[in-house]
Amino acid sequence: MASDKKKTVLRSANWFGTRDKNGFMYRSWMKNQGIPEHHFEGKPVIGICNTWSELTPCNAHFRKIAEHVKKGVIEAGGVPVEFPVFSNGESNLRPTAMFTRNLAAMDTEEAIRGNPLDAVVLLVGCDKTTPALLMGAASCNLPTIVVTGGPMLNGKHKGKDVGSGTLVWQAHEEYKAGNISLHEFLSAEASMSRSAGTCNTMGTASTMACMAESLGTSLPHNAAIPAVDSRRYVLAHLSGMRIVDMVHEDLTLSKVLTKEAFINAIRTNAAIGGSTNAVIHLKAIAGRIGVDLDLDDWKEGREVPTLVNLQPSGKYLMEEFYYAGGLPAVLCRLGESGALNKDCLTVNGKTIGENVEDAPCYDDDVIRPLDNPLVENGGICILRGNLAPRGAVLKPSAASPELMNHRGRAVVFENFEHYKSRVVDPDLDIDETCVMVLKNCGPKGYPGMAEVGNMGLPPKVLKKGVKDMVRISDARMSGTAFGTVVLHTAPEAMEFGPLAAVQDGDMIHLDAHNGVLHLEVSDEEIAARLENLKSNQIIANTSGYEAMYRNHVMQADEGCDFDFLVGCRGSEVPPHSH
Ligand code: FES
Repeated sequence: MASDKKKTVLRSANWFGTRDKNGFMYRSWMKNQGIPEHHFEGKPVIGICNTWSELTPCNAHFRKIAEHVKKGVIEAGGVPVEFPVFSNGESNLRPTAMFTRNLAAMDTEEAIRGNPLDAVVLLVGCDKTTPALLMGAASCNLPTIVVTGGPMLNGKHKGKDVGSGTLVWQAHEEYKAGNISLHEFLSAEASMSRSAGTCNTMGTASTMACMAESLGTSLPHNAAIPAVDSRRYVLAHLSGMRIVDMVHEDLTLSKVLTKEAFINAIRTNAAIGGSTNAVIHLKAIAGRIGVDLDLDDWKEGREVPTLVNLQPSGKYLMEEFYYAGGLPAVLCRLGESGALNKDCLTVNGKTIGENVEDAPCYDDDVIRPLDNPLVENGGICILRGNLAPRGAVLKPSAASPELMNHRGRAVVFENFEHYKSRVVDPDLDIDETCVMVLKNCGPKGYPGMAEVGNMGLPPKVLKKGVKDMVRISDARMSGTAFGTVVLHTAPEAMEFGPLAAVQDGDMIHLDAHNGVLHLEVSDEEIAARLENLKSNQIIANTSGYEAMYRNHVMQADEGCDFDFLVGCRGSEVPPHSH
């Protein structure tokens, strides 16, 4: 339904609205695309910010989605203009797509602010593209709506459903052992990823899609509609129509991204069994819009039950999640439990409570009822102590209950290369009661904070049939990973956080129930060890983007944004000097 309101002064009029030399130049060059004169006469100009790239396979179908957004924009009386921004795809980009998240956010922010746009539609999908574009858009604060590319269809291999990533290790092991042929190995690759879209487990991409919807920045159902389902394209069309109304209503991003909306997202993350990466990304987005989101705010979600029975915490995949009712069904149940701030405004102009009221659930095994959750207290656990003065995180729904309170002897890996060479050593003094400690994989230590925190167990322990051990690092882990894994320890080892001081044989106590991570070494001894490390520090000699990254990236508890990018700088821009 189109809005009756009409915005009289459009931002784009600063470019196209003057009948002088400047207006001539702005319009003339745009007209080389076949844009007629009447499109410059008071119609909202809608930017479609596209992370399409054939090198980001999860987003490779976005040109088609953009076409449907355009149809909606035109139908509602706007002028769509599609533009590309840096596309950081998780599967190909080295050293990690997180390394360039802030680069994509910078690109997005400057592209939005510097161009004649009244509002933007963000086309996002693969893990880092969602936070990057929301961060950039938040710093501009125009009316903004998120359209996600949607998950892949379920993988189908030998008659069974397979989730993105789940077949990789299994197929590789079987191929190495000679149990399957090369042909079978290659066909497993094709079976796992058989349609357009993002990873179909509740990994980071699906988590961030759910975060965007629970924050109120997308239309209901945006998170889960499969990429190839025609309803995905209908949603894109409707989003295109809606963004035009948002211009007339002056419904800017800051009216949606409130502190209460972030608390909704934190609780939603618990209910979906979402990725720990959301802790970093939500903080970074909040920082851009001026919302003070602290690591301790995650305690708001600690006791929320995990309802969504999706891999890696559970059984099903995103296709079943959509068919069962998708995120509106989850939010409806959160609302019934009192865990949803129902008054938060969303991009469709309604509150989130109105959007999900009576949202049906069609399968109580996929989306569990409140009285039969997958995990009782599913929210991400925030840990503090002398080993993590600025915090660390643990995902209870991925952890072993018996290890949530564990005291063990540290076995230390100084960096990921050291881990890889040492963990396979048959003489390594380690057993399942030990605590594996990995250093120098934080934001600066391994630029981009690699997803290696769920380091594989030593072969000699695996041979005993042991499936889990306590692992602690300053790294991240993939949203699809599993285990009693303490991540994001801050400050990181490279910044001489106490993690850097841990030595083989030190005793460590993890008490996740009480949020404590304690190194049983005196403060004086920790300080002395750190002083010794500082005196032997070797400064990495870097240049290019990596130099900027190392100089400005903040710690995990601060969202790993660049220090100079925090904040909302608005959409004002000096005039062009033609
Ligand atoms: Fe892109 Fe998983 S690799 S969503």
